[in-house]
Amino acid sequence: MRIISSVQEMHDVSNELRSHGKAIGFVPTMGYLHEGHAALIEQAATQNDSVIVSVFVNPLQFAAHEDFGIYPKNFDGDCALIEQSGGNILFYPSVHEMYSPGFSTSISIGTITEKFEGTFRPKHFEGVATIVAKLLLCTKPHHTYFGQKDYQQTMVIKRLIQDLHIDCTMHIVDTIRESDGLAKSSRNVYLSSDERKQSCILFKALSEAFQAYHKGIRQRERLNTIMQEVLNESSDFKVQYAATADAYSLDEPDEFEKIGKVVFLIAGYLGNARLIDNMIAE
Ligand code: PAF
Repeated sequence: MRIISSVQEMHDVSNELRSHGKAIGFVPTMGYLHEGHAALIEQAATQNDSVIVSVFVNPLQFAAHEDFGIYPKNFDGDCALIEQSGGNILFYPSVHEMYSPGFSTSISIGTITEKFEGTFRPKHFEGVATIVAKLLLCTKPHHTYFGQKDYQQTMVIKRLIQDLHIDCTMHIVDTIRESDGLAKSSRNVYLSSDERKQSCILFKALSEAFQAYHKGIRQRERLNTIMQEVLNESSDFKVQYAATADAYSLDEPDEFEKIGKVVFLIAGYLGNARLIDNMIAE
């Protein structure tokens, strides 16, 4: 696997691949890779000639009180997982390389960033949109891959690609879960063994809301209450939001149409681990 740490080299390699008519797939990550990332890389490998994976912990998307300084790292494990999953290029720039002195551009996306994650992490999506745009410009992929686990993030990136006319197709890949339903996440490493046992509560709450929706319940408050009651079973889970929204707009009408697509979204803290998860129902 080729490891590239300079922006100029990344440009040159992508230009070279494109000039030879090779399809480029790109999977952006912050490292400490797990089976969820492997699924993204594997899908990219089936649809492209070359798969670039970036590992970059982006300081711009963390607030001062968040875990930027302690974000878990495993360079050797990441390299092995990327290779095993079919990736052939690792883009591994330093913070200085991505944000050279004087850097002052940022991309801010409207309405869809203002609720849910945006309420609890106000500058987060600005940081995400800015780094993803920069990474797409460096790697010049034909296809890029994101996990459904970060549902609102996928909507933000979709908007970014559309609004900036970025010539790249975005693919959203299903969430990979542990056997008890916990969504795979690099941050699960922060859970103590007791918290790990309680963490399946998010999947349970989402599943109950999903079933209620399929039984015909369409009132938003009732669906949210179903999730909240399940989450209350864990004395340690501190809910930030447990919400039901239109899956396309993130609007929250009092009652959903009989035919449509909704997303159930949960976020909160279990000890030091901030967990988020979601489930779509139609
Ligand atoms: O989902 C993530 O890991 C990050 O938000 C991303 C897309 C790699 C941008 O830093």
